[in-house]
Amino acid sequence: MKVTVVGAGAVGASCAEYIAIKDFADEIVLVDIKEGFAEGKAMDLMQTASLNGFDSTITGTTNDYSKTADSDVAVITSGIPRKPGMTREELIGINAGIVKTVSENIIKHSPNAIIIVVSNPMDTMAYLAHKATGLAKNRIIGMGGALDSARFKFRLAEALKCPQSDVEGIVIGGHSDTGMVPLISKAGRNSVAVSEFLSEEEQAKVVEATKVGGATLTKLLGTSAWYAPGAAVSELVKAIALDSKKMFPCSALLEGEYGLSDISLGVPCILGKNGIEKIVEISLTEAEKENLVASAKGVRAVNDLLEA
Ligand code: LAC
Repeated sequence: MKVTVVGAGAVGASCAEYIAIKDFADEIVLVDIKEGFAEGKAMDLMQTASLNGFDSTITGTTNDYSKTADSDVAVITSGIPRKPGMTREELIGINAGIVKTVSENIIKHSPNAIIIVVSNPMDTMAYLAHKATGLAKNRIIGMGGALDSARFKFRLAEALKCPQSDVEGIVIGGHSDTGMVPLISKAGRNSVAVSEFLSEEEQAKVVEATKVGGATLTKLLGTSAWYAPGAAVSELVKAIALDSKKMFPCSALLEGEYGLSDISLGVPCILGKNGIEKIVEISLTEAEKENLVASAKGVRAVNDLLEA
């Protein structure tokens, strides 16, 4: 398996690092526009191979996409990250042009690649990647829900005062502070509903903290987070590499699922060697349905800016 990661910034480098450490890829190629930057990150990471015990090779290139040829999976992290106080949506002007060019370059050299979009505003960038490449819907995956669900589990475990390995939780909807729909009704501790342990007020607090998970980190770090985003991407790539059919919420192009069409939005997806092998439609409470519809409306408003 050959994996390309475009953007050797904090998120891209973390993706490459976690993919390497999990040791399922033969080859990882880091691409960046800044002269020598991807080469440097790749060399630094390669010098951890004997320490971290992996055999994947990592190389870097300054914007030479011929080096990415025949990648099985390509991850797009390029673009600018948000600064404290900014929403992900405010990045659209700069990032749309970058994501369009990058996805076209990827497909030119790796016509069979599955693309994972991480750049923000992510749902709109995934939608744009569809428009720019015309790829089948299974081959473009927006990474947001896997990260948001990990943050949900962190907050659930914190509230339940238990290990994260005890909790289940899934977040659907848009990858934005207002668009995320953490499915608290389905969250549990070893299959026992969280409502058995947490008051309505405590549950609402977990939901709110999850939705602003990225913004909380941006405020603390002065830029957006990278460890959990990188780890989330590595899990999606691993599910594709191992054809594991694991379920993750991903931003997928919808064609009638959940009553929505012509939009990329976070929904549960089965991932395997073909990318999104199935979109899973689950039952939602009335409030969750309403929140998903409102989330779609928010994402559409950002998508509309693409044509403007
Ligand atoms: C975050 C960015 C990656 O949520 O969107 O941290």
